[in-house]
Amino acid sequence: MTLFEKLRCLFTFGQGVALPLPEITADSTPLPLFTQWFEEANKAGILLPEAMSVSSCSQSGQPSSRMVLLKDFDDQGFVFFTNYGSRKSQELAENSKVALLFHWNVLQRQVRIEGSVEKVSQQESEAYFHSRDRGSQVGAWASKQSQKMSHDGELKQRMAKYSDKYAQGEVPHPEFWGGWRVKPSYIEFWQGRANRLHDRVCFEKQDEAWQHFKLHP
Ligand SMILES: Cc1cc2nc3c(=O)[nH]c(=O)nc-3n(C[C@H](O)[C@H](O)[C@H](O)COP(=O)(O)O)c2cc1C
Repeated sequence: MTLFEKLRCLFTFGQGVALPLPEITADSTPLPLFTQWFEEANKAGILLPEAMSVSSCSQSGQPSSRMVLLKDFDDQGFVFFTNYGSRKSQELAENSKVALLFHWNVLQRQVRIEGSVEKVSQQESEAYFHSRDRGSQVGAWASKQSQKMSHDGELKQRMAKYSDKYAQGEVPHPEFWGGWRVKPSYIEFWQGRANRLHDRVCFEKQDEAWQHFKLHP
């Protein structure tokens, strides 16, 4: 983080506590509020404001969480990219129910999202893959994400192999790598307030329309 970003972080600290949630009306939907909070997290100088936890659940009911980066969002959902052979992808393929979590600490804000996933289109994954730097593209070929290493030097060897193989021209998009789109059915906005009297506004999708309600902190 640059000195300027650190100063901006200090300046923003606790600002959220002083700001109540915007007024929610009968026809409010969660996307405008998410967009506003995401922009404010970006402006606050938070390192990786797009970092979010993704929780999946195995068929036996064992949940697991890990951080990923949000790469796109709109009224269709929230998109992240990963290896389709990874643990998270295998679990999501077996059980499409998923939860996302953002925490923007200096703003004292949390957003909880629940829903189900679907794979993004091949074209979308391919376009995003090619927008990445070359090292990350080759790295995607080298990493057998979430699989056990057969020996210590394996990843280095594989990176050397694919760097050599794709030394020239475009690195092809691996079929085993792409995006997941989380289609939300529940989004909760949590705003820290004084005396632990935090605001919680929840939106729930019912028959394709968003309903909202508030929860005790
Ligand atoms: C801040 C942060 C961002 C990350 N972003 C991604 C990402 O966008 N995609 C990804 O596959 N892994 C990402 N990772 C690594 C994952 O947390 C995780 O280690 C990896 O995806 C394997 O998870 P799995 O074995 O549960 O599938 C990120 C880790 C951190 C700490």
